[in-house]
Amino acid sequence: KGKRAFIAGVADDNGYGWAIAKSLAAAGAEILVGTWVPALNIFESSFRRGKFDESRVLPDGSLMEITKVYPLDAVFDSPDDVPEDIKTNKRYAGSSNWTVKEVAESVKQDFGSIDILVHSLANGPEVTRPLLETSRNGYLAALSASSYSYISLLKHFVPIINPGGSSLSLTYIASERIIPGYGGGMSSAKAALESDTRVLAFEAGRKHKIRVNTISAGPLRSRAAKAIGFIDMMIDYSSANAPLQKELSAEEVGNAAAFLASPLASAITGAVIYVDNGLNAMGVGV
Ligand code: NAI
Repeated sequence: KGKRAFIAGVADDNGYGWAIAKSLAAAGAEILVGTWVPALNIFESSFRRGKFDESRVLPDGSLMEITKVYPLDAVFDSPDDVPEDIKTNKRYAGSSNWTVKEVAESVKQDFGSIDILVHSLANGPEVTRPLLETSRNGYLAALSASSYSYISLLKHFVPIINPGGSSLSLTYIASERIIPGYGGGMSSAKAALESDTRVLAFEAGRKHKIRVNTISAGPLRSRAAKAIGFIDMMIDYSSANAPLQKELSAEEVGNAAAFLASPLASAITGAVIYVDNGLNAMGVGV
């Protein structure tokens, strides 16, 4: 029987979320996505107008279908948490039921259950500021959008993830090594995400037989990465210094995600899996 996946954090065809959706679709999964509310209109209209058709092509020549796109803002757990200025913001007012709890309820209503949950989102309003110059609010916002958002998603989806299911997030090596430029508390947020992966693997594994892993991905020229401002340098650095001297493609991360979500990975949980051309293993650039 085909599996069903919910992928949070798809708003164009450039990021890891899109590539993961494609690899899962190629493996036969039904795809549902959660798209950040302010990005929803442009994503849906671009999709309808065929802007993504070229990048929707799967290995067998067919086009990836997305069964349903849910508006989502993963920094809000339930309607009570939404402040007035967001509620009345016209980019939000046009959509409804986009808090994490409501999205999980909608997916339950529409489909009953899922097998695969993917968190491919992050946000740090002060990412371009060094940690030493990061404000308390900026730091907490980074953790809220990039780390707690995962706990919240898993918490609300866990009741509808079938036993044997798999949950996955995306992290970055700035959590454990110094990557100047990845600021605003984003390095801290990824460290929290990796630690939470272990604890959540224990809790969701014992209670629900669900596996929890995270992929530590190498640099990709996504929309989010371009906003940080140093992505071309990181890609060049990796090409120059990693054991495998090639540019990382989003598809390589997508394929690793499909593996981790599959029964082939049935004993892998609580793990940080590097998909980075091996750069993490280097001690010094040569
Ligand atoms: P992306 O721009 O394709 O994905 C980030 C998504 O998060 C966007 O679709 C954005 O709309 C969404 N988002 C932001 N705030 C949100 C919120 N509050 N609620 C719901 N959605 C929200 O960029 P990318 O790079 O593919 O990011 C995906 C994941 O991969 C992130 O966790 C990122 O940290 C991670 N990653 C990226 C690397 C890179 O070089 N691009 C390297 C290692 C990890």
